[in-house]
Amino acid sequence: MLAGCLALLGACHGAPPATTALARSAPAATCKVSEPVCDPAVSDDTALALVRRRCAGCHAEGGKAQHPLLELSVLGKARSDVALRLSGCEMPPEPTPLPADERARLIGWGACTEIAK
Ligand code: HEC
Repeated sequence: MLAGCLALLGACHGAPPATTALARSAPAATCKVSEPVCDPAVSDDTALALVRRRCAGCHAEGGKAQHPLLELSVLGKARSDVALRLSGCEMPPEPTPLPADERARLIGWGACTEIAK
């Protein structure tokens, strides 16, 4: 039967898999693309706490984003990326929730680049 399967690969696998464009960078329905503007009132600790709460599912050490962000030493270097990804509604991908006020705080923190950790 294997030969038949190989000859008729499509038939053996049934319908072709649905395009896997699901979670990767799907914009959150509630997110509005915005300009990243620095908000110096958002502390490193606040940003770190938000990222640990909201992004740990993928951004832990060895997590599926392959981009750990849960330590301030690494998060601090990624802050402009954070501002861009969040203001562009690319992160977090659906269906991970991120309330608008928390998104705004993380963008405001990320957009301040002067504090290199
Ligand atoms: C459902 C999984 C998931 C969640 C939740 C998630 N991310 Fe991501 N993130 C990814 C994946 C996968 C990538 C790498 C692929 C890509 O670049 O789009 C990524 C990439 C990034 C990058 C770019 C890293 C680089 O330099 O390539 C940043 C910054 C980022 N995420 C920030 C965040 C922040 C902040 C949160 C929480 C508010 C978050 N992500 C939540 C999956 C996730």
